[in-house]
Amino acid sequence: ETRLIKIDAQTVETRDKDQIEQAAEMLRHGELVVFPTETVYGLGANALDPQAAEQIFRAKARPFSDPLIVHIADISALEALVTSVPENAWRLAQAFWPGPLTMILPASAKIPGLITSGLPNVAIRMPNHPIARTLIRAAGIPVAAPSANRFMHVSPTTAQHVYDDLNGRVPLILDGGPCTVGVESTVLNLCSEVPTILRPGGISLEALRAIIPQVQPPSPRSINTEQEIAQAAPGQMLIHYAPQVPAYLFDGSPEAMRIAMLEEIQQRQQEGELVGILIADDDLVAFQDSNAIVYSLGNTPEQIATRLFAGLRTLEAAGVQTILCRSFDAQGLGLAVHDRLLKATGGKIKKLD
Ligand code: TXA
Ligand code: MG
Repeated sequence: ETRLIKIDAQTVETRDKDQIEQAAEMLRHGELVVFPTETVYGLGANALDPQAAEQIFRAKARPFSDPLIVHIADISALEALVTSVPENAWRLAQAFWPGPLTMILPASAKIPGLITSGLPNVAIRMPNHPIARTLIRAAGIPVAAPSANRFMHVSPTTAQHVYDDLNGRVPLILDGGPCTVGVESTVLNLCSEVPTILRPGGISLEALRAIIPQVQPPSPRSINTEQEIAQAAPGQMLIHYAPQVPAYLFDGSPEAMRIAMLEEIQQRQQEGELVGILIADDDLVAFQDSNAIVYSLGNTPEQIATRLFAGLRTLEAAGVQTILCRSFDAQGLGLAVHDRLLKATGGKIKKLD
């Protein structure tokens, strides 16, 4: 009962206009529409309609305590959604919108409490994807959209990923092909005394600091007990983007990681386990005789970010019993990659020398 419709980003405003208009009509009527953004696929609903927003939580099986990002297509839509726009927000919008930056701003009375989980602030983002922008513009309303995965699963970067998680739970998926950025937007709190990153993502700390030098990196997480997870700030839980199989993060020099991962693969295979590994192109030769299921993320931070979630899902689907991941340089987009790997492994790190 879930319809999948292919939309060509090139012809979204011409040949595919009718289908976008139909999807926009669904949003206006309080229905759910899954659409691609440059980061990951979003599960969209009318952000001004609490009943529509409630359906998002149901479809994802997401707790109401985790607030939603409100997506807009034009800067002119911003002022109605917030009580004030600080100078910093204008400057960041100018530099990074449309794009993978979400700003936390003081919510106006128009925003239903369900969207913010009762917080006084709202998350706003203007995505940089022709299908997302054309759809939001055609709907004429702000669109609330979390990543279109089941709660606690890896975010979807293709329409097939969405279908695998939400088939039968959403009426429509707009398939615009694979997402180019591949990790979610950077969530930046502009309501705290100092602008602080809550979630690293598609806009790097370095890029933000080029505009606002005071921007603070996310605070390191050290959340372990279930109780602490329940009490953690929204979206800050360590176990979040977890694949359905246990995963381990190796951290050390490239050579040390290869040696330790090869050893671990051998041990686990002797116990009859099927092991999957996430590595870089530079590691491929070292693992060619390992008998592990290999998924290479490429070499540049951009390639690694784009392929990371597909890699986790591919290994999961291959039926591996354990996933071993190497770590990557945490500069630029690498900070978001490291964050997602930490979450995917639930903080299970093997630190080497
Ligand atoms: O790239 C993205 O941001 C994607 C695409 C679809 O735009 N969306 C996304 O949404 O990743 P979601 O719901 O999976 O993650 C939103 C994050 C969560 O960590 C949530 O806790 C945080 O943003 N967030 C949302 N509203 C907030 C608020 N008012 N205050 C603090 N954090 C908030
Ligand atoms: Mg999410």
